[in-house]
Amino acid sequence: MGIWRTKAVERSLLDAQKSEHRLHRSLSALDLAVFGIGVIVGTGIFVLTGRVARENAGPAVAISFVIAAVVCGLAAICYAELASTVPVAGSAYTFSYATAGEFPAWIIGWDLMLELALGAAVVAVGWSGYFASLLATLGVELPASMVGEKAILNIPAMVIVAVLTAVLTVGVKLSARINLVIVLVKLSVILLVIVAGLFFVDTANYTPFVPPAQPTPAVSGLAAPLIQVLFGITPVAFGWLGVVSAAAIVFFAYIGFDVVATAAEETRNPQRDLPIGIIVSLAACTALYVAVSLVVVGMRPYRELNPDAPLADAFRAVGQPVFATVISIGALAGLTTVVMILMMGQSRVLFAMSRDGLLPERLARVHPEYRTPYRTTLLIGTVTAVLAGLIPLSELAELVNIGTLFAFMGVAAGVIVLRRTRPDLHRAFRTPYVPLLPILSCLASLYLMLNLPVETWIRFSVWMVIGLFVYRWYGYRHSRLAADEARG
Ligand code: ALA
Repeated sequence: MGIWRTKAVERSLLDAQKSEHRLHRSLSALDLAVFGIGVIVGTGIFVLTGRVARENAGPAVAISFVIAAVVCGLAAICYAELASTVPVAGSAYTFSYATAGEFPAWIIGWDLMLELALGAAVVAVGWSGYFASLLATLGVELPASMVGEKAILNIPAMVIVAVLTAVLTVGVKLSARINLVIVLVKLSVILLVIVAGLFFVDTANYTPFVPPAQPTPAVSGLAAPLIQVLFGITPVAFGWLGVVSAAAIVFFAYIGFDVVATAAEETRNPQRDLPIGIIVSLAACTALYVAVSLVVVGMRPYRELNPDAPLADAFRAVGQPVFATVISIGALAGLTTVVMILMMGQSRVLFAMSRDGLLPERLARVHPEYRTPYRTTLLIGTVTAVLAGLIPLSELAELVNIGTLFAFMGVAAGVIVLRRTRPDLHRAFRTPYVPLLPILSCLASLYLMLNLPVETWIRFSVWMVIGLFVYRWYGYRHSRLAADEARG
């Protein structure tokens, strides 16, 4: 009995083809793009821009956004194929379960927890920064032990996660209309930053555009020599290498577009609309991110940007507290939906994993009254709140990024493998230039991963090793497929 149970392929495809599991095909490319922007625009642009400009890239953070967008674009095309081939709604976990079998699916599902639960924690910490900034404009200063990078316990971040957990548990849905309103608020705030900010740009702040490289204190100690020995990369702040390291961090700003690909089954014309929806949301976000970062680093010398709420603070610093307040309110609304959607995604992945028996099936119970996966929601809410309360944003974000980039590699490899093992399957969307494009996508993701600090690699490896143990001692013995095998 091998550890690789591929029987899952046939079962999932059959399951997925049953008509009761088919979702209604109603979404257009525009719906997908709106949904995408709703999930994507969050802490990455509202918080990390300032922090990364200050510590890694200087004004060239705009270039880092473009590099990260290219990596995401390649991955997005691969996601689109898998999402339109395996007609099951869901995440990279469901795709891998259906295409590669139980073990690879477990690896991806375990890894996805980093993207979704941890990602929600990061966005909650970003939310807390803007909350503090809003209170500051109203004259209330929260103590440093409660918000910001040096917080002992980030209380606002924990509270927002707790509130959203309650909302998700009772099954309040983010309707398409509310999402549209929040997307419009978010976009208006971003456009406000770009247009109003232009009046306060001092072009002297753009020189030097790529500040000269210098050793970074953030990765001193063991990390720098280890990275050098292991990967041949010298970690530096600023300079061109700093710009690439910054790309590995601002990559966070694009996380969420993969969620668009998971709506393949609900898309009217996936072959046409899915790539348009994904590419339009990615392109729109890239354009906005580049414009916002250029304006913000033009408004303030990059070293003076605020690390917690840089967009609002840049306006306060130039004597425009009203703009700062409007931006903080818009950011709070926008970040709330991102936390909510990431937590919802996580509870659904955990739900699917429990239903497949890889985690205790008790977790997969649905609430008798609210009909929500309340057990996984409460579990995720608790873990996310604790993480958001205790761990600083930058470290969390790097771990989220490495986990997501790893899942991208899995998806790109999945495209190549499935073309060989199941050439017969109908693919509503076909990735062009296979295997070249998926290979490029894998290499690009790997390259960004290599630019993350060694501490992040160690944390990631520890997490994955724990995952292997959990699978060996629990999932492997209790899964649906194990039960099938036992029955013969
Ligand atoms: N891309 C999302 C954000 O930046 C996760 O908040």
